[in-house]
Amino acid sequence: MHFQDLRVNGLVGPLGVDNDPFFSWKVSAEERNVLLPHAQVELSSDAGVVWNSGKLATPVAPLLSYDGPGLAAKTSYRWRVRVWDQHNTVSDWSEWSAFDTGLRGAGFGEAQWIRLDEETPVGVKAPVQYLNTEFEVTAPVKRARVYSTALGWYRLSINGADATGPGYFPGFTAFDKRVEYQARDITDLVRQGGNAVGIILSDGRFRGRIGAQAQPAIYGNRTAAIARLEIEQEDGRVVTVVTDANWHGGHGPIVDSDPRAGETIDARLRTTWDEPDGQVPEPITVVAVDEAREVVGESSEPMLRKAPLAAVSIKRSATGALIADFGQNHHGVTRVTLRGPVGSTVTVDHSEVLTKNGDVDVSYLIPGGDAASLQILPNVFILSGGTDVFEPAFCTQGYRYASLTIPEGVELVEIVSLPVHADLRYHGRFSSSNPLVDQFHKNVEWSMRGNFMDVPSDCPTRERSGWTGDAQVFAHTALLFADANAYLANWLTDARLQQHSDGTIPDVVPMDADSWRENAERAEILPGLSMPPSGSAGWGDAIVQVPWEIYQATGLLAALRTNYDAMKKWVERFAHIARSARGQGRTGHAEAHEEFFVDTGYHWGEWLEPDGEGDGTNDVFALMKDLAATPRAWVATAYFEHSSRLLAEIAGLLGEDDDSCHFLRYADGARDAWQREYMTGPDRLEPDAQGTYVRALEFALVPEERRQQTADRLVQRIRERDNHLGTGFLSTGILLKQLTQHGYGDVALDVLLQDEAPSWLDQVRRGATTIWESWTGVDPDGNPTMSYNHYSLGAAARWLYEHLAGIRQTSPGWCTIVIDPFLNERFSHVEASTGTPFGEVSSRWTITDGRVTLRVAIPPGTTAQVRLDGASPQEATIDGSTLDDAAGVDTNSDGTAVTAQVGSGTYTFEWQRATAPALV
Ligand code: BGC
Repeated sequence: MHFQDLRVNGLVGPLGVDNDPFFSWKVSAEERNVLLPHAQVELSSDAGVVWNSGKLATPVAPLLSYDGPGLAAKTSYRWRVRVWDQHNTVSDWSEWSAFDTGLRGAGFGEAQWIRLDEETPVGVKAPVQYLNTEFEVTAPVKRARVYSTALGWYRLSINGADATGPGYFPGFTAFDKRVEYQARDITDLVRQGGNAVGIILSDGRFRGRIGAQAQPAIYGNRTAAIARLEIEQEDGRVVTVVTDANWHGGHGPIVDSDPRAGETIDARLRTTWDEPDGQVPEPITVVAVDEAREVVGESSEPMLRKAPLAAVSIKRSATGALIADFGQNHHGVTRVTLRGPVGSTVTVDHSEVLTKNGDVDVSYLIPGGDAASLQILPNVFILSGGTDVFEPAFCTQGYRYASLTIPEGVELVEIVSLPVHADLRYHGRFSSSNPLVDQFHKNVEWSMRGNFMDVPSDCPTRERSGWTGDAQVFAHTALLFADANAYLANWLTDARLQQHSDGTIPDVVPMDADSWRENAERAEILPGLSMPPSGSAGWGDAIVQVPWEIYQATGLLAALRTNYDAMKKWVERFAHIARSARGQGRTGHAEAHEEFFVDTGYHWGEWLEPDGEGDGTNDVFALMKDLAATPRAWVATAYFEHSSRLLAEIAGLLGEDDDSCHFLRYADGARDAWQREYMTGPDRLEPDAQGTYVRALEFALVPEERRQQTADRLVQRIRERDNHLGTGFLSTGILLKQLTQHGYGDVALDVLLQDEAPSWLDQVRRGATTIWESWTGVDPDGNPTMSYNHYSLGAAARWLYEHLAGIRQTSPGWCTIVIDPFLNERFSHVEASTGTPFGEVSSRWTITDGRVTLRVAIPPGTTAQVRLDGASPQEATIDGSTLDDAAGVDTNSDGTAVTAQVGSGTYTFEWQRATAPALV
């Protein structure tokens, strides 16, 4: 057995572990049928063995939680693991893997928050601050660490060398409640003798413009940085360097910067300010400021610049701009190399689409609205006279195209784009015989990459906001694409911290406008429409749904336990608003079921259904006004039901049996209310829209005996729309799944393979490289409209893994798996794999004239049931032997399929399908 992917708290070699860690690993094995019931972890520091777990039963997944004496702060530890299989055979030890504890609540000691002694009014980009100091090291360096963070984005350098890496720090959190600090190994950067440390401090997401309203400074107007360096010399002495008012400061080549409103870099100002004896041209006093912000170690992957994309074309537009096309919509920064006369100024604008003239213009992002209010502004580069490489440090954009305005005499030497996204391990792979479907999958992945920034966001352009509904509908799919467990768990921390006292979860987390605050003044966000629309059904339900998805992906109850109180408060709020509106709602009667009928509040409803279905309209502003006037009780009551029922199950898992009964009562009450209001005919629901039927099936809102009619009516609605989907935000991700689960896999294929709008493949056919916010991407006049990079409608890609390739978990944490591909001859092959806590699981099938070959890989520690549709045990083979004869493989035939029970390993099945594939 070999070990891979040793992690601490889900991260590779973290340096700032503030909580007691858990250790996880993956095992690969040559032999088959491996279970991994026991493990042992050994933890050491320089002082020797700190903890030896002994042989312990692992919980669901291969991991063990630390259970030894209190760990010291700021200390390097190493650990290793060995495992026992079900025959009690023990493996060798793994290699050692390292991690560091962080400050562990001790804070930065005597370090102070510092900044330049200057003020900038709210809404004006602050000059970027350059802060530095020098220090002596008197002996060779044994080990050096820096702990640092900022209110704003910052970069830190030692002796002129970058110590930050290609990231944006600190990540966006509820800055009013917590700020993450970073711990870094600077052993190789510090040297015996004179040293310098420098910090560049910009507005970042703390003070810069954020959210739909591009509001500045919502967490404060005063940026500041804090750092503590600890350098252990070989002679045992420790040199400590901290930020304080003795630091020096001033301005430098990055003149000003905002996360979206552009960065100005003046290459004439480049100096060696962060090297010993270096200094900024015009020093400004550095002051220490009082800040009582809570600092916490990072607990998820940071947002990083990734490998460059080359431009696929560079053309001059009719207006004379140079337009670079990167061939891929993404979130990132452009790196531009320019040569030209000193003082020449070049501007770089970005956009996802071009205007009819071939130019860049972001007005499409606000249909009929005020694009200037978005504050998506160009970068400005001023040349030094030599060859300059410009790469904005603190401003990112969402785009496929960059537009350069270059004066006469300046040469564009090179332009590349660096995608920027959270450093997650993307473990989802999909390919098939249909290139359009493959491109759809690719588009979903690019939309996830671009939107899993430092928080899961809606779009990397207009808002960059942590909309809870977007994360709610996409979390399941996200976890098939990438190991985003720690990342989503970190975001949920901010949802808990910013939950209002009445249980409301802001629709955007971390909140990025004053209107999300508790007791916020109602803001007029459109003429005639004032709200804070916090607490929408389907959005705030992320606090229940996302932990549930993490639990499913990892098997760890901690994800549920940590969020349990917040979930309860959220569901109680539904109960409260239902109860208190009793008698005032739609019917005006105080009927019993109205106690559970949620018919007040602002809810986004199904949101962005295609024109002609449900709330579908081309006028989103009119829709928002209508949503404010008429609460979407059919959606809100459904979510009250669903979150209550899920919470009842969660309570049961956590041993909270009284709570479980309590929430079951809500769930039953809400279901009854929903049925009374919306089951209007034998197979009819109100509104008679695809989203309603999908939700009714997914949440089991209709009685068992009506399920099939409900599915039949959904199919009728699809057929009436000529095989087009009619779902919006909330149910598009589960439409194909519900069709397949009710015997309509062929209809799911019709919808998936539909290549006229509304459909995913229409977008692909029209050149999409990401998933669009609206189904058509253009207004009725054919002009681009709304964001071109919204992952929510791409949530349906889960169907490619779970149904088309057939990879599904049958227990939390994936220790039992089913491989049940949806075989059909509209594909000649399909292949998918995804990551589990145990390792990769994959399924690949080919089909020709009903002859199927299915190859599966099941990770050590798990077992799987492989369903061979249309096979007979006498004819089907496993690795060349008929299933009947195969030793150690239990099979079961129900007349329509054979199910083979297998342990870990790789297997190839072959059979001739007995039944003709349906409706080909
Ligand atoms: C965002 C969405 C979000 C929605 C609320 C939009 O402006 O881009 O993704 O969930 O507002 O309906």
